[in-house]
Amino acid sequence: MQAYQAAIHAATESPQRFWEVQARALDWFRAPQKILSRDEQGAQRWYADGMLNTSHLCLDAQVAAGRGEQLALIYDSPVTGQKAQYTYHELTDWVARAAGMLQQLGVVAGDRVVIYMPMIPEAAVAMLACARLGAIHSVVFGGFAAHELAIRIDDATPKLIITASCGIEIDRVLPYKPLVDKAIAMAEHAVEHCLVLQRPECEASLLEARDSDWAQLLSRATPVAPVPVNSTDPLYILYTSGTTGKPKGVVRDNGGHAVAMHYSMATVYGVKPGDVFWAASDVGWVVGHSYIVYGPLLAGCTTVLYEGKPVRTPDAGAFWRVCAEHKVNVLFAAPTAFRAIRKEDPQAQHLAGHDLSALQRLYLAGERLDPPTYDWLSATLKRPVLDHWWQTETGWAIAGNPVGLQLMPVKAGSATVPMPGYQIEILDDEGRPLGAGKQGNICVKLPLPPGCLPTIWGNQARFEAGYLNNFPGYYQTGDGGYLDHDGYLFVMGRTDDIINVAGHRLSTGEMEEVLGAHPAVAECAVIGVANELKGQLPVGLVVLKDGAMVEEELLNRELIASVRESIGAVASFQRALVVKRLPKTRSGKILRRTLRQMAMGEAYSIPSTIDDPAVLQELEAQLATLEDCAIRA
Ligand code: COA
Ligand code: AMP
Repeated sequence: MQAYQAAIHAATESPQRFWEVQARALDWFRAPQKILSRDEQGAQRWYADGMLNTSHLCLDAQVAAGRGEQLALIYDSPVTGQKAQYTYHELTDWVARAAGMLQQLGVVAGDRVVIYMPMIPEAAVAMLACARLGAIHSVVFGGFAAHELAIRIDDATPKLIITASCGIEIDRVLPYKPLVDKAIAMAEHAVEHCLVLQRPECEASLLEARDSDWAQLLSRATPVAPVPVNSTDPLYILYTSGTTGKPKGVVRDNGGHAVAMHYSMATVYGVKPGDVFWAASDVGWVVGHSYIVYGPLLAGCTTVLYEGKPVRTPDAGAFWRVCAEHKVNVLFAAPTAFRAIRKEDPQAQHLAGHDLSALQRLYLAGERLDPPTYDWLSATLKRPVLDHWWQTETGWAIAGNPVGLQLMPVKAGSATVPMPGYQIEILDDEGRPLGAGKQGNICVKLPLPPGCLPTIWGNQARFEAGYLNNFPGYYQTGDGGYLDHDGYLFVMGRTDDIINVAGHRLSTGEMEEVLGAHPAVAECAVIGVANELKGQLPVGLVVLKDGAMVEEELLNRELIASVRESIGAVASFQRALVVKRLPKTRSGKILRRTLRQMAMGEAYSIPSTIDDPAVLQELEAQLATLEDCAIRA
């Protein structure tokens, strides 16, 4: 039997045995005896009686294994001109002192700490320092506005917020501290402390009673040892877009996560200790958590933390420069990054002069890898270009190419095959399994493997309602697609109201709340329209209140400004269309699925429940006026 089939067989036949073996690779403080059990809420939990510390596994255990002098982290920041390198010894010492600094501020195991930082090494240090104390971090992406940060503060109720004085977007300095102050003021939860890293590009003013200076506190801090925590204790909460306005706090535990990270680094990415791994993402997203910080360090690799863009910092050769300079072995990025590079440099002239001989493979995720981008990358790099599909909820690949076991032939447009531990089935809307080639809901048979979310922070009911209840016995991924006759998975897009803009997951429901608050808007729907660069862009369809006298251009500007102010620039909301009516069922529900299909240029059938089919014709004509719909599926 081939290695991949053998692993699938072992993980399916006896998940407990399979994951017990994988767990043995880690340096537990107390090795687990219970491999898979249920907690008091009935949720499935991995390694319930194990004890460990994730910072210990990422740092101290690596030093103990002889990697103290090896590089752990390379920081490369074209936006500031800074570069720095830290060995495992240095990073361990830094994190241990940073943990001491947090301890001085009263942070103890179980406390939540919100981290709102740009792509600087201190962001990773802050995460690892929390992990060292058993505190639960919640990193919020720097592109989110104060209101979004406030929502997360109220849900996670942190004792401390760690931030930096600014982020830098290409050549723009974005002061973070005023935004954090505003978020703290907006939030109902009272944050006790705010720790601020002052960057030379911008000085933040500190409030004496609440704020502390990172550098000053760190200089006085004494190192602390890793605190043993239970396997099931949360390592972090990461908020992600749901279908309603309120983001979901995906909880990641310590034990299952560590095993999953270690396993995926070997199996999905095929790396070994000492390899250089670069995930060109942001610590604010799950890719940053799993494959900038935890995965590479747990596997004894060198991770690259890049504060820049694929283009304009300074040009479309930035990625090739970083790969060559740091001898990157494995690069992971979002397809949108390469669409941006290809747009500016279709002949890949910027590759010239960069020695990419160390680069073995390229991984893509975060959104569908469209075949033109796949073809361009394969032809340009002449190396395996591997799509893999996963979500914030799972923390690691559900489907991919198991290169550590065997390299499977690539099919353009497919995320390849299920990873060992995930039993993927395609179900119709009534929960009936569909055969090969038939498109339906992509579901994963329970139990989910280690690393996947055990719950939503403080909201088990939302976890069950959102993921488990529609298809009993399965986890509902929220994506639609099919398995072909060879068992390859094709992910075709979300089946709910989540859109993916430049690799950023966003909720249309949240944007609808913002548009709906405008005094002239009676009702609205936000849909994702195909876009050549960003994959999807949100477009608002708004129906005006009777008698509302507002000029469409002005309304557009006001709505764009409101989304930026409330959600953030990252939403890329650039267009609202005034429409006469929205398609509805006879009972008054907006037919969002039909709107979604229309917007993506997909074939759709007119729902039998529709109130007035003529609405669809009107809308089709209006949607056709939208520019930039070039990559309709
Ligand atoms: N902090 C503050 N603002 C941010 C930000 C951050 N971390 N990230 C993005 N923004 C802002 C941008 O400056 C831009 O603002 P603007 O409208 O005032 O110009 C806005 O949010 C939209 O950003 P983005 O969608 O990223 O567009 P872009 O034109 O700046 O860049 C790409 C386009 C394709 C280069 C960029 O989106 C990219 O690199 N995407 C990859 C995403 C990724 O790695 N995702 C992780 C999944 S693997
Ligand atoms: P996030 O939670 O931000 O990682 O976004 C997860 C969502 O992004 C998935 O549910 C998919 O809709 C989409 N996605 C991620 N990777 C892929 C991929 N390789 N192919 C298609 N869609 C993807």
